Amino acid sequence: MIDPNHLCMGCMRNIGASRSVCPYCGFQKNEYISRLSPKILPAKTILAGKYLLGKVLGEGGFGITYLAWDLNLEIPLAIKEYFPNGLASRSCYGNQCSLSIVSGSLRSNYEHGLQRFADEARTLARLQKFPGIVNVRDFFFENSTGYLVMDYIKGMHLGAYVKKNGPFSEQEALSIMKPLIQSLQEVHKLGMIHRDISPDNILREPYGNLILIDFGSARMSTGEESKSLTILLKRGYAPLEQYQSHGRQGPWTDIYALCATLYYMMSGKVSQESIERISEDQLVPLHVITETEVSQKTSRIIQAGLALKASERYQNLDAFIKALYPEKQPSIPLKSPEEKQTLPSEFHTAESNEEIFSPIKWLAACFLFFFVLGVLLSYL
Ligand SMILES: Nc1ncnc2c1ncn2[C@@H]1O[C@H](COP(=O)(O)OP(=O)(O)O)[C@@H](O)[C@H]1O
Ligand SMILES: [Mg+2]
Repeated sequence: MIDPNHLCMGCMRNIGASRSVCPYCGFQKNEYISRLSPKILPAKTILAGKYLLGKVLGEGGFGITYLAWDLNLEIPLAIKEYFPNGLASRSCYGNQCSLSIVSGSLRSNYEHGLQRFADEARTLARLQKFPGIVNVRDFFFENSTGYLVMDYIKGMHLGAYVKKNGPFSEQEALSIMKPLIQSLQEVHKLGMIHRDISPDNILREPYGNLILIDFGSARMSTGEESKSLTILLKRGYAPLEQYQSHGRQGPWTDIYALCATLYYMMSGKVSQESIERISEDQLVPLHVITETEVSQKTSRIIQAGLALKASERYQNLDAFIKALYPEKQPSIPLKSPEEKQTLPSEFHTAESNEEIFSPIKWLAACFLFFFVLGVLLSYL
């Protein structure tokens, strides 16, 4: 059994009791504590009696996501806490924290949001078997709020990956996005839309699988959505109807964001913001803007998915998939059991893998170089 006191709170690897800097991820406990905002739960907080919290992975308008450790199963997890900006605040004295929720009429917004967060966790839990969508493992209420427990995805954001490695070829982009798009089709069949698809909400696992995360803004696609409940919009990914107070949102809303994501993946450029396009539409077609070859056919499909008017876009993913992948669709491959396992011994992030393997690669290359040089010299 691993002693939780020996875990690095930045990567959940066993580093022993005495180290203040993690040799794997460089996490510095003291530096982390010193810059912690008061609304963040301190590292080593235990939730539901079995989840040990680590560092914060991200803070958004609706919640705070933490790295965590399952004390029973001894695996890393990601836990998202419902913490809507402006409706809740927290103060901590040492490890004792208390959450304050707004009073008055806004309180019902908080309660309503919490119930929706729970409903969406339930919906997501039904999609466990689909690749391309993060696995939900648990949900519970505590500290007057709710917690969504997910598999921890070892990988980097798709946006960061493109920035580092350059755009994907057309063939690669279409093939790696296919499982995610097909899984999103299942989400839509359950009547839910994601509403926040972008390269920042897609994680790339070390072997190339793409996983869609952040269902915090997902909603049942009931049509009109009042602006007050809408998310902070991502420039270049959010379609016009998300800017409008009574814009009709539906599968076509996700299709716009999906196309903007594909546009970015193949060009490395963010498409022009939809609201700007009203006065002057300068969206350059994908096959024109890319440096690599993109077929006119794919470019036309993406352009149609990025139509400003929702009614001119593909209305559902069935039609979009038929256009983008015209070959007969085999049924979506479900996750294999080993793909779902996350063992501590193989727990490396993409970045840390590179950190660990690159010195080894260099050593091997140097060894080979001197060996060949030695052989050559001995012949001369
Ligand atoms: N299941 C997960 N595995 C690994 N990292 C995650 C996971 N879920 C979220 N994250 C990290 O936390 C960040 C914030 O989570 P996200 O769900 O996108 O919320 P928000 O954008 O609302 O803050 C993500 O950008 C990602 O870096
Ligand atoms: Mg996000």
